[in-house]
Amino acid sequence: MNAKQAAAYKAVGYIQDGMIVGLGTGSTAYWAIHYLAERVAQGLKITTVATSESTTSIAAEKGIKVSSLDSVEYIDIDIDGADEVDSMLNLIKGGGGALLREKIVAAASREFIVIADESKLVDVLGRFPLPVEVLAFGREHTARHLQRLGCRPVLREKDGQVYITDNGHQILDCHFNAIPDPALLAQQINAIPGVVENGLFVGMAKKVIVGYADGSAKELG
Ligand code: A5P
Repeated sequence: MNAKQAAAYKAVGYIQDGMIVGLGTGSTAYWAIHYLAERVAQGLKITTVATSESTTSIAAEKGIKVSSLDSVEYIDIDIDGADEVDSMLNLIKGGGGALLREKIVAAASREFIVIADESKLVDVLGRFPLPVEVLAFGREHTARHLQRLGCRPVLREKDGQVYITDNGHQILDCHFNAIPDPALLAQQINAIPGVVENGLFVGMAKKVIVGYADGSAKELG
């Protein structure tokens, strides 16, 4: 088992029969879906909600039926990855572009479990460029507002094209290098007209499961 698998496997151990489960996005969350599918094949009964179209497809391929978020009142446990995790369990997410749905699903969850390999642990958030989902309309103006907060915003592209999120928006990856006050910055960014959501998840994760290369996993929080 590699580090991502170890973290994912341990998180899936928290899922019990009858639960409503949030399915994250990314290469670590992939393994959670994989191990969950194994348990579903063995008879585990769960309802799931996905944080992206790609996760919906992966779950379907593995035989997990996905429900819409609005068909459930809440989510028992949401399991998702992160790009950076600090010692307060604040996160940067959105490297895979799914930050908006990931935040909505996490906010609808009674428990939000983050799974990450040890490379994601940092003292101060911000070395990983902070993804900010923005409207296409007036994007350059939105980028200038972001720049005034002390970053270098870079429009995300994929295969030579502007990257478009599942919600039809674009992403500015904001190079801050260091984010000493994530709560303040998250508020300042979301106050900019044209910003849909930012990838800072502040005070949302109560548990982070860190996987290590030797196949072990440790819980923080
Ligand atoms: C998806 O938009 C992201 O928030 C992912 O959860 C994050 O990028 C972690 O992805 P990996 O598990 O692939 O590193």
